[in-house]
Amino acid sequence: MTLYDGGHSEYNSGKLDIEDLKVDPFEMLQDWLDAAKAAKVTEPTAMTLATATLEATPSARVVLLRGLDTGLVFYTNYQSRKGTELTENPKAAACLWWAALERQVRVEGEVVPVSAEESDAYFASRPKDSRAASAASPQSQIIPNRESIEKLMQEYLELDTIARPEHWGGYRLIPSYFEFWQGRKARLHDRFCYVRAGDEWLIHRLAP
Ligand SMILES: Cc1cc2nc3c(=O)[nH]c(=O)nc-3n(C[C@H](O)[C@H](O)[C@H](O)COP(=O)(O)O)c2cc1C
Repeated sequence: MTLYDGGHSEYNSGKLDIEDLKVDPFEMLQDWLDAAKAAKVTEPTAMTLATATLEATPSARVVLLRGLDTGLVFYTNYQSRKGTELTENPKAAACLWWAALERQVRVEGEVVPVSAEESDAYFASRPKDSRAASAASPQSQIIPNRESIEKLMQEYLELDTIARPEHWGGYRLIPSYFEFWQGRKARLHDRFCYVRAGDEWLIHRLAP
């Protein structure tokens, strides 16, 4: 076995106490996203998204958080592996990790597609090459070579307008659970979870 001894980095940059928490976990997440942006971390909105098949086989990948309102909005191909899994089992978990801030956020909940109008508006806001790439890529399918999708992308780039493919759009992860983690000295980290109870959020401190 190869041992990965990355040393024992200490987490010393912050702490999290009950009085630091917002009543509303969405505001808390917004504050931490703002702090990650202010700290100029790479891809502050990158989140690992876990989905699972109906047989409970999990899969995970990184997507970008594109909006935060009643849920966490991300965009993808509805026929991708994640899209297929979300159609059969609309439950997901997301995890954001900002190394420079020694912070992690976990979110769990139900996923619903955003409206076609919302997906249209977001698709239209993307650069032309991103729109062409989304239209050309049968995401998660086996393809014979790179050239085949490059050729298709080029054909889209030659069009005056690129319509949003019906199989490409957004999802909103509606949280029923949040957890905020702040690294602390000697691995005695601070963790708080928010559990939805009707219209309220119950807050608990968790052991590290
Ligand atoms: C930093 C980063 C950001 C990404 N953002 C997205 C995204 O917003 N939407 C997306 O569909 N894939 C995104 N990807 C690619 C996914 O990780 C993944 O390869 C793709 O969605 C196919 O996943 P699936 O086969 O599990 O459906 C991103 C990858 C990285 C590393």
